[in-house]
Amino acid sequence: MSDKKHILRLDASASGSHSASRKLGNVLTGQLENLYPHSEIRQRDLNQELAFIDNNWIAANFTASDERDDSQNQQLAFSDRLIAELQWADHILLTTPMYNFGIPATLKAWIDLVCRAGVTFRYGPNGPEGLLTNKRIDIVITTGGAPLRSPVDFVSGYLKQVFSFIGIEDINFIGADQMNLDADASYARALTQIEQRYPAVAA
Ligand SMILES: Cc1cc2nc3c(=O)[nH]c(=O)nc-3n(C[C@H](O)[C@H](O)[C@H](O)COP(=O)(O)O)c2cc1C
Repeated sequence: MSDKKHILRLDASASGSHSASRKLGNVLTGQLENLYPHSEIRQRDLNQELAFIDNNWIAANFTASDERDDSQNQQLAFSDRLIAELQWADHILLTTPMYNFGIPATLKAWIDLVCRAGVTFRYGPNGPEGLLTNKRIDIVITTGGAPLRSPVDFVSGYLKQVFSFIGIEDINFIGADQMNLDADASYARALTQIEQRYPAVAA
């Protein structure tokens, strides 16, 4: 990998600076900054600005891009901006807690805004093809009681499907699950996973 990286960080927890997933994201960001000192990092808090798609948005999205009027272009402007951030990034870092066995609604709203036919995926002769290729994503997931990859985990499998659908195949999970049982042990397991994936470089 080249050492000049565009890193996009996305945080979904509603808990702000006390969030365990954001804290692990900070550790991971620090490791990436050490590994790729000339990188540029952009950050988006998914609790800010996000909107739900609606009838007008769907109509604009399903109108051919050269036939959209100004108001339809306006409807899609924020989605265009979120997608441009993904297109810019070589490396995405997403942090998210499990909420009610799935992802937070803010993250789902973001997913609905970035999965767009003809822009981030298309239908080819062999079915859907993702258009965001040559990117890597690290996904930090925290849970209270549910074990990741258990039958009640509707986070990791879903996110793997969504990101591979839009073309991102290099997907790595860092899990601090079951934090309510033993938060320190869970956090330490996640730190080990980060260290294994991105070994600390000597200063
Ligand atoms: C609204 C809400 C719903 C939650 N639902 C679940 C759940 O279904 N399963 C689970 O194991 N933990 C659940 N939790 C616990 C969080 O996943 C856990 O506390 C996690 O560490 C929070 O990460 P954060 O500090 O980054 O927000 C929930 C927490 C909240 C606030």
